[in-house]
Amino acid sequence: MNKKVKKILNKKHKSKVICLTAYSKNVASILDKYCDLVLVGDSLGSVLYNFKSTKEVTLDTMINHSISVRLGVKKSLMVVDMPFNTYRTAKEALKNAKLIIKKTRCDAVKLEGGKKIIPMVKSLVKNKIPVMGHLGILPQTAKKFTFKGKKLAERNRILNDAKLLESAGIFSVVLECVEAKLAKKISFQLKVPTIGIGSSVNCDGQVLVIDDLIGLSESKFRFVKKYANTSKIIDNAVRRYKSEVLKKQFPKSKHSFSN
Ligand code: KIV
Repeated sequence: MNKKVKKILNKKHKSKVICLTAYSKNVASILDKYCDLVLVGDSLGSVLYNFKSTKEVTLDTMINHSISVRLGVKKSLMVVDMPFNTYRTAKEALKNAKLIIKKTRCDAVKLEGGKKIIPMVKSLVKNKIPVMGHLGILPQTAKKFTFKGKKLAERNRILNDAKLLESAGIFSVVLECVEAKLAKKISFQLKVPTIGIGSSVNCDGQVLVIDDLIGLSESKFRFVKKYANTSKIIDNAVRRYKSEVLKKQFPKSKHSFSN
């Protein structure tokens, strides 16, 4: 088994799994110091490209961002989201996962869904491709972005999906906006770590979109905590730059070349 995957598995019941998304090298290299897992999420569709849905994200876009992220990620496990319509059959999933791994040298891929995607997960695992699952809100196919696990039938379905995914061989599963007690039950019953986003402290690890955490996006989701106001820092730097250029205070001779 991949050593980095084993490290994530070994964290269960010992230490929280720290995860964040990254879409490019410079940010990824900072996250790599603190994270166990760096995810090139297809959330980049809304975060960077203003797409209404992650459905619009293509395989090429995921591959290009992942190539950049790979340059910054040295020690963490690097996971790449398989975009919408790239894993409709086991054959398609295997072909595209192999392409993602070949081009980006990532360690694992993430797929959204439960029972329906079990053949795809099995096919990847059989071919030694580590797979991360994703349950709860599934942005690629979601119609409503409300938390999951309100009704008993839905709770049972999500728990069952989690167990099916585990039996199919996933090494971890993202729980997106899953009701807190259900997240606790899933985390208790699975051997693999659950990674929560909006799914309470009961999960074995946490993930957030980096732009939300550093205050670069305008996200107002309840589950986001803004740890910095990066927009303000950039705004301030660019304003000072403009002012200094206009006043001819920048560049100085030390920034210039002369014979
Ligand atoms: O696309 C993404 O960034 C994700 C995380 C929010 C888990 O799937």
